[in-house]
Amino acid sequence: MVTITVPLVLTSPRDDAMQLYRAFKGFGCDTAAKITKRLSSELSGDVKKAVLLWLPDPATRDATILRDALSGDVIDLKAATEVICSRTQAQIQQVKQIYHALFGVYLENDIELQAKDDHKKLLLAYVSAIRYEGPEVDRGMADQDAKHLYKAGEKKLGTDEKAFIRIFSERSCSHLLAVNASYRNMYGNSLKKAIKSETSGLFEFGLLSILQSAENPAKFFAKRLHKAMEGMGTNDTTLIRIIVTRAEIDMQYIKAEYHKKHRKSLNDAVHKETSGNYRSFLLSLLGPNHP
Ligand SMILES: *[C@@H]1O[C@H](CO)[C@@H](O)[C@H](O)[C@H]1NC(C)=O
Ligand SMILES: *[C@@H]1O[C@H](CO)[C@@H](O)[C@H](O)[C@H]1NC(C)=O
Repeated sequence: MVTITVPLVLTSPRDDAMQLYRAFKGFGCDTAAKITKRLSSELSGDVKKAVLLWLPDPATRDATILRDALSGDVIDLKAATEVICSRTQAQIQQVKQIYHALFGVYLENDIELQAKDDHKKLLLAYVSAIRYEGPEVDRGMADQDAKHLYKAGEKKLGTDEKAFIRIFSERSCSHLLAVNASYRNMYGNSLKKAIKSETSGLFEFGLLSILQSAENPAKFFAKRLHKAMEGMGTNDTTLIRIIVTRAEIDMQYIKAEYHKKHRKSLNDAVHKETSGNYRSFLLSLLGPNHP
């Protein structure tokens, strides 16, 4: 049985790895591969899932999550959508390469096999599109896009999904935010409301994920975490995925957003929903408990 005593504050990924290495007693100077093997055999359940997902680099984590979600025992299209629609173009490029190297298939193939209809088209467009990610915005073009979305959605009986797919997969974050603002200025309604009334299911979730990630990724993930813990029971797959993949990226902001919205700390919420080594591990990835 392994006892996990993970340090309270994890700093850089490299330090994390060293700390974790020491945290598992009795590993001596084993190689990383040996450690992984032993962790795999000595841990079980949710803590095993979390630790094994956390060991590799971020792009490998994402590739592993996506492969699992698209071809594992339980197909989880929502998880795949959340990951794809919240990553930058550069991150997706890297994930696609690793995906192919590790699993011998293209990410696009697995999306093609599992997703359907407009949701599939959106994901395929999003992982293939070349998005410029700079901060500049062409106001005129943002107005045009807002007009296209209005014509394709609220103004029309039925919806022209192609316009939504094109704009949401090809435009930069800054541009989408400008489109969001133009939409409000020109039509008085929010783009989010338009998406909600014009689309549904995973397609809607994908579009909203892209829009919310463009504006404030930390708020998006805080919301997802709240969803995973609300009501009876906990969605541990989601909890693990988000805490492990965001720990080194924007966890402090996610914690702040969570606290702002729910008036309690994310640490306390996670503490309440988990136990044992699993709890210790997730809490150590969250870092100090202050709002
Ligand atoms: C957990 O969340 C995922 C989305 O990431 C969802 O697809 C799945 O159905 C949820 N599981 C349960 C048991 O609610
Ligand atoms: C979009 O615009 C609305 C209305 O101006 C605003 O409330 C919202 O925060 C903006 N961003 C997103 C992602 O909806």
